[in-house]
Amino acid sequence: MKLIHISKTFFPGSSKEVKALTDINLTFEKGEFTTLSGESGSGKTTLLNIIGGLERPTEGKIFFDGLELTALSDEQMADFRLHHMGFIFQAYNLISVLTVRENIGFIMKLLDYREDEINNRINELASVLQIENILDNLPGQISGGQQQRVAVARAVASKPKLILADEPTANLDSKNSQRLMEMLRALNEKEQVTVIFASHDKYVLAESKRTIVLDDGAVIEDR
Ligand SMILES: Nc1ncnc2c1ncn2[C@@H]1O[C@H](COP(=O)(O)OP(=O)(O)O)[C@@H](O)[C@H]1O
Ligand SMILES: [Mg+2]
Repeated sequence: MKLIHISKTFFPGSSKEVKALTDINLTFEKGEFTTLSGESGSGKTTLLNIIGGLERPTEGKIFFDGLELTALSDEQMADFRLHHMGFIFQAYNLISVLTVRENIGFIMKLLDYREDEINNRINELASVLQIENILDNLPGQISGGQQQRVAVARAVASKPKLILADEPTANLDSKNSQRLMEMLRALNEKEQVTVIFASHDKYVLAESKRTIVLDDGAVIEDR
């Protein structure tokens, strides 16, 4: 994936104008595991939202496997997201009236996967993420760490090409943060999915192969 001259200004030209991102140029290779780091307000969430097409840049283009995402309509972008991207947020966004199993299978169902394919995939992920014994529970009946692992399972279930995660460990204790990251790393290695995190958690940084540091909307480090 390639980001070319991406800038984002909120409320341009008004007294409330905020330059959230300035001329971001980045390339992400397939299977790369990258953390976006930087202080609060540096532009991490805005950049993830733009990569995921949840927000449009003021300037610049994004290409994914040769397709210009920034040229897609909102509807085309939503369809692209459904087929190729997985999201993990700080607030897990699980559907409270669906069981863990139904939450994990939700996207696959939307994409018309066969029932047996969905069940096989859920069982495979449940084993990797150690949530086999809670598949029939509702999100409200499991711990925060378990909810976060379910959110990961849901995001990766349909094997998207790209996973975007915004501070996924922010509400977890250090042990659960570390475990979650090791599991995500294992999935990344096994399935060659590209992963981009926004985080300043040391466990996230420790598992990342690449760290991009943002400051005031600009890349100040890429290592
Ligand atoms: N929807 C918005 N409207 C106006 N300003 C915003 C909006 N979203 C983010 N910003 C501003 O853009 C800058 C970057 O914010 P954000 O991307 O949330 O940073 P981070 O995720 O690194 O904390 C901040 O100055 C923030 O106040
Ligand atoms: Mg943020």
